[in-house]
Amino acid sequence: MKAIILAGGSGTRLYPVTQVVNKHLLPIYNKPMIYYPLSLVMLLGIKSVLFIVNPSDLSSFQKLFGDGSKLGMDIEYKIQEKPNGLAEGLIIAEDFIGNDNICYILGDNIFFGHDLVKVINEAKIEVEKKGGAYIFGYSVKDPERFGIIEFDDEGNVLSIEEKPQNPKSNYAIVGLYFYDNKAIKIAKNVQPSGRGELEITSVNEEYLKNNNLKVKLLGRGFAWFDAGTHDSFLEAGEFVATIERKTGFMVGCIEEIAYRNGWINEEQLLKLAYPLRKTDYGKYLMELVKDQIVGGNIAF
Ligand code: TTP
Repeated sequence: MKAIILAGGSGTRLYPVTQVVNKHLLPIYNKPMIYYPLSLVMLLGIKSVLFIVNPSDLSSFQKLFGDGSKLGMDIEYKIQEKPNGLAEGLIIAEDFIGNDNICYILGDNIFFGHDLVKVINEAKIEVEKKGGAYIFGYSVKDPERFGIIEFDDEGNVLSIEEKPQNPKSNYAIVGLYFYDNKAIKIAKNVQPSGRGELEITSVNEEYLKNNNLKVKLLGRGFAWFDAGTHDSFLEAGEFVATIERKTGFMVGCIEEIAYRNGWINEEQLLKLAYPLRKTDYGKYLMELVKDQIVGGNIAF
């Protein structure tokens, strides 16, 4: 499976902050927002990642991650000329994906929770074995603001409704999707919506029509942030800070995950830590090598 991380868009809900700076490069507490979705992908064991970025931000992303080799990964980039909608990313990624299955994640979505990776991995494995698509539902207090899923006991999706006035459940669709390779063809047939975008909902609806869309619920022990508004951005940062201060473990630390995954060795980790040595982040990485952080649970 290969991963696509969507890091384009216009970020208008974070204006004026994002008028000249890309949202995904802003700090959620002590690291760029984009580290969090990338770290989830890494925890799922996916080494091959494509970032879809705006033309003006390509060089910043390249500076941050290069070709991924410093993390033991293969990272590529494709430009989305305009924010034409989430489904366009699947079309842009066609060559990168080849014949593979797809992990599709929004660059401003942050996930945290015990056994998160285990739960998400089950969906990944099922798509790899049986095909189809998997989405994830998270209970929200204000379902009128989200894409809402209705589902049966077996996790089959019965309906999806965008911002419904009379929601059939409280479960919102989060920005993480697994698709088989058919998603590319489906995306190519999507027509622009009323707001002129190629909607990811249209892709999901096509899977639903073919009885091939399943949902896993992220229960009350999980935290999910779409860090795209001023309040959720701040909330996500405060959340990460609280967890890190309480536990002494980092959330979304890509160097740590690469190291614990065995994708880089001690020497490579130290090389990554050196420029950060004046920060707690850098010191944390160095302590990993000294093995002072024992039994670190990287599964968030
Ligand atoms: P959104 O939050 O829906 O849109 P946005 O980031 O442009 O922000 P705003 O609504 O404030 O204007 O996007 C979800 C994620 O997908 C986000 O990480 C940006 C990314 N994205 C793209 O990469 N390309 C796109 O065409 C769109 C619409 C979003």
